[in-house]
Amino acid sequence: MKLTIKKTARTSLLTVLVISNLSWNTIPDDETNPRLLTINGFTFKDLNKNGKLDIYEDTRLSIKERAHDLVTKMTDDEKATFLMGTGMPGFDGIKPVVGAIEGRVPGAAGGTYEIKRLGIPAIIVADGPAGLRIKPIRDNDSKTYYCTAFPVGTALASTWNEALIEKVGKAMGNEVKEYGVDVLLAPALNIHRNPLCGRNFEYYSEDPLVSGKIASAMVKGIQSNGVGTSIKHFAANNQETNRLSINEHISERAMREIYLKGFEITVKESNPWTVMSSYNLINGTYTSARKDLLTEILRNEWGFKGIVMTDWFGGFAGAQSIMAGSSNVTQQLNAGNDLLMPGIAAQKKAIVENMQNKELSKEVIDTNVERILELVLKSPVMENYKYSDHPNLKENAQVTRQAASEGIILLKNEKNVLPYTNKKGKVAAFGVTSYDFISGGTGSGDVNEAYTISLIDGLKNAGFSLDEELKNTYTPFVAKVKNIEMENRKKEGFLALPKRLPELKLEKNAIEKTASEAELAIITIGRNSGEGGDRSIDNDFNLAADEVELINHVSEAFHAKGKKVVVIMNVGGVIETASWKDKADAILLSWQPGQEGGNSVADVFSGKVNPSGKLTMTFPIKYEDTPSAKNWLGTPANDPTSVTYAEGVYVGYRYYNTFNVKPSYEFGFGGSYTNFDYTNVKLSSPVFNSKMTVSVTVKNTGKVSGKEVVEVYLSAPTKSIDKPKEELKAFGKTKELKPGESETLQLTLSPKDLASFLENRNAWIAEAGTYKILVGTSSLNIKKTAEFSVPKEITVEKVKKAFELDSKFTELKP
Ligand code: BGC
Repeated sequence: MKLTIKKTARTSLLTVLVISNLSWNTIPDDETNPRLLTINGFTFKDLNKNGKLDIYEDTRLSIKERAHDLVTKMTDDEKATFLMGTGMPGFDGIKPVVGAIEGRVPGAAGGTYEIKRLGIPAIIVADGPAGLRIKPIRDNDSKTYYCTAFPVGTALASTWNEALIEKVGKAMGNEVKEYGVDVLLAPALNIHRNPLCGRNFEYYSEDPLVSGKIASAMVKGIQSNGVGTSIKHFAANNQETNRLSINEHISERAMREIYLKGFEITVKESNPWTVMSSYNLINGTYTSARKDLLTEILRNEWGFKGIVMTDWFGGFAGAQSIMAGSSNVTQQLNAGNDLLMPGIAAQKKAIVENMQNKELSKEVIDTNVERILELVLKSPVMENYKYSDHPNLKENAQVTRQAASEGIILLKNEKNVLPYTNKKGKVAAFGVTSYDFISGGTGSGDVNEAYTISLIDGLKNAGFSLDEELKNTYTPFVAKVKNIEMENRKKEGFLALPKRLPELKLEKNAIEKTASEAELAIITIGRNSGEGGDRSIDNDFNLAADEVELINHVSEAFHAKGKKVVVIMNVGGVIETASWKDKADAILLSWQPGQEGGNSVADVFSGKVNPSGKLTMTFPIKYEDTPSAKNWLGTPANDPTSVTYAEGVYVGYRYYNTFNVKPSYEFGFGGSYTNFDYTNVKLSSPVFNSKMTVSVTVKNTGKVSGKEVVEVYLSAPTKSIDKPKEELKAFGKTKELKPGESETLQLTLSPKDLASFLENRNAWIAEAGTYKILVGTSSLNIKKTAEFSVPKEITVEKVKKAFELDSKFTELKP
């Protein structure tokens, strides 16, 4: 920051300015010239005639005090403008909304208005969550603005490693800051209610504890750069079909225990700067217009201090209603949804009118404006941060490579096929996705990265020899089908849903020939999905006929020659595995691992990295086993308007374990190249007082070093209400343990971890009785158990009634 100070009688005042905020340019001041101030590039002349700073200018004061002063200086018109964003600049085929302002950072999702007169700059917000999403190429500019494509949310969560996720967040936040963005619209932490949700790849888990802990780590990492986050989509945005208008009937208990819990953990542990309300309605009201959600629970119960913004056009029922400008801004602003994004002219008109006719009180307007001001005041742009447009892309590529390899899950490893170390024999890579690896999903969560390392390139980089003949057969085919797919997507625009590339049909004898020449077969199964659409059961959750054929033929041919088959699952969400897993000797679930994907997979394949990822969701035997299968997407079937969450709290493993439905791979499962022993499970006390610590010693009993995730489940007494058989209440990950080395982990449970939400008492209650602790390496593989008692019922928290139902329905009970 350039600073010019001329010594005058008032130098001391100017010095204060210098010390307290380097972002302020002070310009020479003398007796003849009025004092000039430059704030964020705007120069103010003699702002205050008596030579004093206004409160809002005085950076020694708190942001709260300054924002409080600023709001008193704003006109009603300025306030109305400030409550909405600057519109949707065009990007990737989306036409700009009329009047939209392209901010400083092309390709960002939006921003707020500047108020030059008061030195309030515009802040820029951009997507997330797999990395920063901005335009990589700009008009009349030879520079490039690529960002790192990190692993998708599901892949990151599979690491169960909070410290690593914080590191990823730090790297992501570096790009946010160095490209001039103030708030990253991430992380996304909706619950995987159903495997078919098209945006599950962006989300972390079917379990709220995993979601909340991973999201907290991510927020801490990103915000450590001095930029903001927006945790989204608050709440229960669990399907893409009719997402702008779907009315979800959900009980208060399921809301609080499942759909809000992750957000609660994140707000309390990491103080995200902003929250993004979701599109859907809950029990008849848009989430962006629910005061119980946005004010009572988020702010009063959890202590959230930041702003809430709508999702883009949230509160509008669809394109028609956006054109008509008919979102209920009054209800949204009254509910505590401060900022309307991306902002359209009709909303400003409505705000002004409702301010005049007093539907919107001055108090509500000022509160919301003040909160947005606080956000602006703490953003990098307010400090006039000179971003470099040169983030640490090289270093961040290493971070994404490491994170992706730690998120890879070893689902199967018969006879220790993996790690594979034979660098001489040929590896035959089957499946179009081996040659066109999928780094992440589509839509707003798609990052514009400079490159993606394919599986074959990753294997080559690691020194493996590929079957070149097979590669040469695949390469032109992949180029052709990929080109068709990309052309189609371009035509359909930004929200085009990705289609699966067809498999190359190989003759049986050609596969047999390959099997005699190569030492090992790899088959990559690829899946992609994106914002704006859900997945289907046929040809997506279930394998398509050409994939089944490929697996059958390759495994028959290779097994006939006594050679092994490894399947790599380059998918964003759950697929069916039960019918074909016997045909593979080893299965690696790599998820969509970001731009270094091929290298990350090769690291695990070769044993450079010992896999330590675990499933954060259940892989059912068949789709119909999913607890929400009967109520997926809602009714009427052809164009659903409402959906009932009849499974209540029995989401994911809470359902499978309680109702004894056997999965293909259970929640929490994941293999390793070594083995771990669990000993010394100890509780801090046999009786629960204010907290309980579980300690467990994990020893690496195998031959190679590795990390282990320890999962602590709790089985609570069920006298007053039904409860899941067990629920994850804590987890931890060991450091990299050498063979023979051990580590003792301490995991703590708070009273709220023991409690369930009793709707009839509006309270979180931990019942009296015996509680069982189950320490496991997965939700079904419990290594040790212990018990403690709660002698007297504990009322952990009493709350106000929320989420009044708009229709009666029966919830699933064991
Ligand atoms: C998505 C959000 C995203 C926003 C801005 C919406 O369509 O649901 O996740 O942050 O657009 O791009």
